[in-house]
Parts: sequence; structure tokens; C-alpha cells
Amino acid sequence: MERSFVMIKPDGVSRGLVGEIIGRLEKRGLKLLAARLEKLTPERVNSQYEEHLNKPFFPSLRNYIMSGPCFLMVWEGRGAVGIIRTIVGKTNPVDAAPGTIRGDYALDLGRNVVHSSDSPESGNKEILIHFKETELTSYPRCSDPWLYE
Ligand code: RTP
Ligand code: MG
Repeated sequence: MERSFVMIKPDGVSRGLVGEIIGRLEKRGLKLLAARLEKLTPERVNSQYEEHLNKPFFPSLRNYIMSGPCFLMVWEGRGAVGIIRTIVGKTNPVDAAPGTIRGDYALDLGRNVVHSSDSPESGNKEILIHFKETELTSYPRCSDPWLYE
């Protein structure tokens, strides 16, 4: 099983898209392990976006991510990281296909509604930035036998 860190950014929270985004991941069959609504500290934004720290867009990315609360989640499933990246869509909403979250709900690269981990390794690293091990739940679902052969 793979785990992905998914974060609804402040635009998604303010625009009332939390339920819609959770619903898409839930209905696909992915399993929610943890969730929290929270305004990120500058330190956590720096850790989350470490690969972009020296990019010219980083100051505006940090302002955007810190402009309001984010909805932080951990999702689990077979191939969850790639499946969620496909559900989220291309980074720039201009290129995101209809039917994806960004293709349906976003217009601008700097307001693209949601983050998701880009590899299982990033997923594990990002989960540890935002959640304690004890916050990750473990529970059976009645749907499990109908989701995986
Ligand atoms: P994310 O990390 O937020 O899930 O997005 P991503 O993997 O699809 O894209 P990434 O390359 O990691 O970029 C992180 C976020 O930075 C903003 N960005 N702005 N102005 C620019 O050139 C630029 N490039 C990226 C976007 O908000 C992007 O989601
Ligand atoms: Mg990224």
C-alpha cells in the first residue's frame, strides 16, 4: 500500500471545495488515514516545498500557501500516489484535463487548489512533516473486498 500527502490549498478551502475533493478521492476507493484543517507555519511551508526554495516563484508560493488554512490529509491505496496525481491533474490548470480537480476547478498556476505528493518517497517524507505517526489511523472498511481482488 502506498501513502500520499494531499493538501487542499487556501483557495480550495475558501472556495468551499473541501467536501468535493474528499468525495472524489473517497469514491475512487482510496482510504483516508488522517486529516486536519490548519494554517501552516513558514517552517512547514519551507519543508513541504524544499525543492522549490531557491526558485523565483517561491516567495509568491509561500504567501499563497500561508494566506489561510489548508486542509491536510493522508490517503492510502495501491498505487495511491500516481492515482491521486492523475485525479488532481496537470500543475498548470491551463493544461489540466476536464474531469481532473484542477481541470474542473482552477484557472491559474498560482491558484491550483490542491497539492499531492509526486512519488511514494515524497509522500512518506511529507506525511512526517505534517503528522505524527500516532495520528495515522488504521481501520478495516466493509468496502475493502470490493475494491481489491
Ligand atoms: P504541488 O507540489 O503543489 O502539488 O504542485 P505540483 O507538484 O503539481 O507542481 P510543483 O512543480 O511541485 O510546484 C509547486 C507549486 O508551485 C506553484 N508554481 N508556481 N510560477 C511558477 O512558475 C510556478 N511553478 C509552480 C504551483 O502552485 C505549484 O502547484
Ligand atoms: Mg510538487
